[in-house]
Amino acid sequence: MINQFVTLENVSLKYGKDNSSLALEGLNITVTQGEFVAVVGPSGCGKSSLMKIVTGLQPVTKGLIRVGGNLVKEPLNFVGMAFQNSSLLPWRTVLENVLLPMEIVEPYAKNFKKNYREYSEKASSLLQLVGLNGYEKKFPWQLSGGMQQRVQLCRAIIHEPSLLMLDEPFGALDMFTREELWSILQNLWMEKRPTIILVTHDLREAVFLADRVLVMSTRPGKIIHEVIVKQIRPRDLKSSYQPESVDLIAELRNCIQEARVH
Ligand SMILES: Nc1ncnc2c1ncn2[C@@H]1O[C@H](COP(=O)(O)OP(=O)(O)OP(=O)(O)O)[C@@H](O)[C@H]1O
Ligand SMILES: [Mg+2]
Repeated sequence: MINQFVTLENVSLKYGKDNSSLALEGLNITVTQGEFVAVVGPSGCGKSSLMKIVTGLQPVTKGLIRVGGNLVKEPLNFVGMAFQNSSLLPWRTVLENVLLPMEIVEPYAKNFKKNYREYSEKASSLLQLVGLNGYEKKFPWQLSGGMQQRVQLCRAIIHEPSLLMLDEPFGALDMFTREELWSILQNLWMEKRPTIILVTHDLREAVFLADRVLVMSTRPGKIIHEVIVKQIRPRDLKSSYQPESVDLIAELRNCIQEARVH
């Protein structure tokens, strides 16, 4: 029991009053502590909704969600989040955006002024890790979409959260940058072992990064399939072209395709 970190019990979500507004239905998901889970599924099936309910941003209509053993009743501020289309604050510099969780989340927040230098250095080293050294003083609107996504990733991980929720964090990146960031994320996960839930449309990404890939059906979303990825870590980028990965990617693809027609 103790290492079940995120649990959803029979969770449903309606955005309106009638049944046609059902976005998620009868979801049962258990993610263990330190596990890396990817969620894939057709557009509009409820992946982002799943991210919102787990982090408490959106209350559920039915069922229970627990994170770290506690019922989720309000937004969880300790979770590292990089959400689809969520934006950086335009009036804050890149560095100030990355530092945001350190101002809000304890135990960092109470020492924010005192440790400002240390925190800034940490932010700068993360920016360097994702190839953005020298951009600290720029504003988000002076960066490309892909650069902004990398800043968001730094913001999501700076406070070393025990739970990292990533909703298509690499969508706006070219393939090579995306692959570089997969490796960075894999290293980070291996080093700090946060629990990660990653939503992606990129099946190669899901199989390269995750221990387990969940497939959601079309709306109302529920889990219709699960694939376990056993490849040893650290995984090499070339591994996604090996037969084991290719077979899993094909299995996921077929499953999503079937879900779309039915
Ligand atoms: N705040 C909201 N109010 C009403 N309906 C919503 C709201 N948010 C999402 N929906 C609806 O719920 C369904 C699921 O949306 P969601 O954003 O979770 O899908 P998704 O799987 O993330 O899609 P995509 O892959 O395109 O990002 C969609 O039909 C969407 O229109
Ligand atoms: Mg989405």
